[in-house]
Amino acid sequence: MAQSAVRHAKLWFAGQSQNWALAAYEIDELHEGFEDAAQYHPTHKHIKQPIPELIGNFMNKPLAALEQSVKDQNLHAFNKNFDSLTAACNACHQSTEFGFNQVTTPLFNPFANQKFDLNH
Ligand code: HEC
Repeated sequence: MAQSAVRHAKLWFAGQSQNWALAAYEIDELHEGFEDAAQYHPTHKHIKQPIPELIGNFMNKPLAALEQSVKDQNLHAFNKNFDSLTAACNACHQSTEFGFNQVTTPLFNPFANQKFDLNH
């Protein structure tokens, strides 16, 4: 999950820099992280529902929408779909009694050693 949070943040900065290749990569990494979580942590002692089902229910739609906006290189759609993704992350936290884990759009870029904007 901490890894997903890093991917989520990098995806935001990739989008803002219109580095669409990096954005597509971070979406793939998010998918992989959730697949691993579903495979290796299919149940959780504090969660009633099966994890793979929760992930599918909450993540499939927003990730697919983001993928499309990255393909279209559409920053406006990206920003809107990024908000939907963040809301879906939090909706899963709410529904699993981890509502105290609130994800937001990152306020500043903490990745000092990565170039997001390849054109400047
Ligand atoms: C299956 C529902 C689910 C989805 C979808 C989900 N999370 Fe989580 N998240 C959890 C659970 C459960 C925890 C509690 C930590 C644990 O036990 O692993 C958690 C914990 C976290 C934490 C706290 C980790 C820490 O160590 O401080 C962060 C940050 C986080 N999630 C980010 C995200 C982001 C970003 C997304 C969306 C891209 C996301 N989560 C989507 C269920 C989910």
